[in-house]
Amino acid sequence: MHNLKINSDRLWNSLMEMAKIGATEKGGVCRLALTDLDRESRDLFVQWCEAAGCTVSFDAMGNIFARRPGRNNDQAPVMAGSHLDSQPTGGKFDGAFGVLAGLEVIRALNDAEFETEAPVEVVAWTNEEGSRFPPAMVGSGAFAQIFDLEEAHGKADIDGKTIGEELARIGYLGEGCGGRDIGAYFEAHIEQGPVLEAEEKTIGVVTGGQAQRWYEIVLTGRESHAGPTPMAVRRDALVGAAEIVQAVNRIGHEFQPSACATVGMMQVSPNSRNVIPGEVFMTVDFRHPDDDRLKEMNDALVVAAEATAAKHTLSLNFEQIWSFAATPFEASCVAAVREGAEQAGFSHLDIVSGAGHDAIYMASVAPSGMIFVPCEDGISHNEIENATPDDIAAGCQVLLNAMLEKAGGQ
Ligand code: GLV
Ligand code: MN
Ligand code: MN
Repeated sequence: MHNLKINSDRLWNSLMEMAKIGATEKGGVCRLALTDLDRESRDLFVQWCEAAGCTVSFDAMGNIFARRPGRNNDQAPVMAGSHLDSQPTGGKFDGAFGVLAGLEVIRALNDAEFETEAPVEVVAWTNEEGSRFPPAMVGSGAFAQIFDLEEAHGKADIDGKTIGEELARIGYLGEGCGGRDIGAYFEAHIEQGPVLEAEEKTIGVVTGGQAQRWYEIVLTGRESHAGPTPMAVRRDALVGAAEIVQAVNRIGHEFQPSACATVGMMQVSPNSRNVIPGEVFMTVDFRHPDDDRLKEMNDALVVAAEATAAKHTLSLNFEQIWSFAATPFEASCVAAVREGAEQAGFSHLDIVSGAGHDAIYMASVAPSGMIFVPCEDGISHNEIENATPDDIAAGCQVLLNAMLEKAGGQ
């Protein structure tokens, strides 16, 4: 058994340095995928990785890989990572923690001049959040061949700019994507929920991720004047949308204890106070740890949306644009995380991830596992997102232990 220790001050300082890129007034981060700020964060990460002696490359999705050779470089690498893009009102830790924890593992191995048997890699995946370019996890999804490259490059933001164009613009359009063996993949992340804090546990041993579906709904009625148009003849798309918001919320409550159901985005057209809304675009995010229950939620939403459209004489365009099934992580990786926590003397708890993560797609091509640490009040996707330096360091130490379990060496 090794006795390597990560350097918690160095990890914390790197996180705080990275958080300056796209820093918001309320203490969070706005670093949307493939913007100039994303490029800045990538450049800093690359600079740090090169300073740590790594060979850095990026692929056709702009996923960045930094490699530290092992004793046996024919072995598949043991990889750690996450993402550097954020939500529009995101925090300092969602994603950046997993990337910089991977880098800290490499720095700690360097300090100890420790030679792993297998090579070790740290990765920053492109567009994990899916906020600018829906859906989420596109970089790791392309690496895992869930999306073909052309499809992934064609994903567009609200202004019609595509991932392919923006990758080329910021200088991170490489060649090839995936199709190589990965020995094991680990991702450290804040929990983004309240469980670890409430249970007073330091480490979440993530056993898998819940199933998820994203929908886009367009309701079309008829624009007309807010004054002279009698209530009886209106075809108000926003009234229909409001009913669907209520239905989504009702379904979420009906499928407790575990369901989550959210309308997070809505665009009203023409968005003028004295025009009856003619068209509404809205999104729905459904999640459940059980695939069958999620299918029932889907069916309930279809019924509700069709009934609303009929009631208000609206036309309905209903599309499921993305989904993935509930994903268990590989037993030996889950065990490596649990043992890594025990070895370091941290309290731990098995937990299912409520959020989507790159590890979900990596689990389809490599043995994968995740490490959670508590975050304050369970809040994330919010500028006030916070975690303690001790918990961040603990998650990174467990990452090191789990990676060494898989990479071997002395
Ligand atoms: C990613 O952050 C997600 O779970 O939506
Ligand atoms: Mn994340
Ligand atoms: Mn996120």
